Amino acid sequence: MQGPLVLCLALLALAGADRTPLQQKALHLVLNYFHSRPNVQLAFTEQAVAEATETALPGGTFVQLEFDIAQTSCRKHQRMTQNCPVKPGGRRQKCLACFKFNASNPENILDKSWRCLSLQNPIFQVAKRNQEQECRMVKDANEEGHYHPGVFAFSRGLPATSPEEGLSLLEESA
Ligand SMILES: *[C@@H]1O[C@H](CO)[C@@H](O)[C@H](O)[C@H]1NC(C)=O
Repeated sequence: MQGPLVLCLALLALAGADRTPLQQKALHLVLNYFHSRPNVQLAFTEQAVAEATETALPGGTFVQLEFDIAQTSCRKHQRMTQNCPVKPGGRRQKCLACFKFNASNPENILDKSWRCLSLQNPIFQVAKRNQEQECRMVKDANEEGHYHPGVFAFSRGLPATSPEEGLSLLEESA
């Protein structure tokens, strides 16, 4: 039973090495946003990247990511300077994120949406659906000038508010 697991991990490691510079940038941005939250005390480290896409659109480059993070024993301010091993039995979260980058200047983020949640969080599925909806709007950012009738009509039909109120109350402190 060990063979396939080892093979899987090797493939994941390879996939990580294949990340594009923009995917890598997006991942670092999400980790920075996550660690700037006051309720996060310990550093988290990136684990498997489950999904990473990059799409060049007329209005910019759309990047979508799904990856797992695990709590380490380091304080969060130590995460850049120390080798932080994963804490046994520590928290794990799944991060969902998407970015629209200006294709001629990737420092210019046209729109973004991200969230990191525990899989055990009772609203995980709701949050995931809201994330998917927000990512469709992020993907559309700066596309209005470029003719895209179907996408435009669809994004106009989305509700303006998300039913995710109370999310921050439900989010565990990490
Ligand atoms: C993208 O970047 C270029 C170069 O910095 C700038 O001229 C342009 O206005 C930017 N586009 C948007 C939509 O911000």
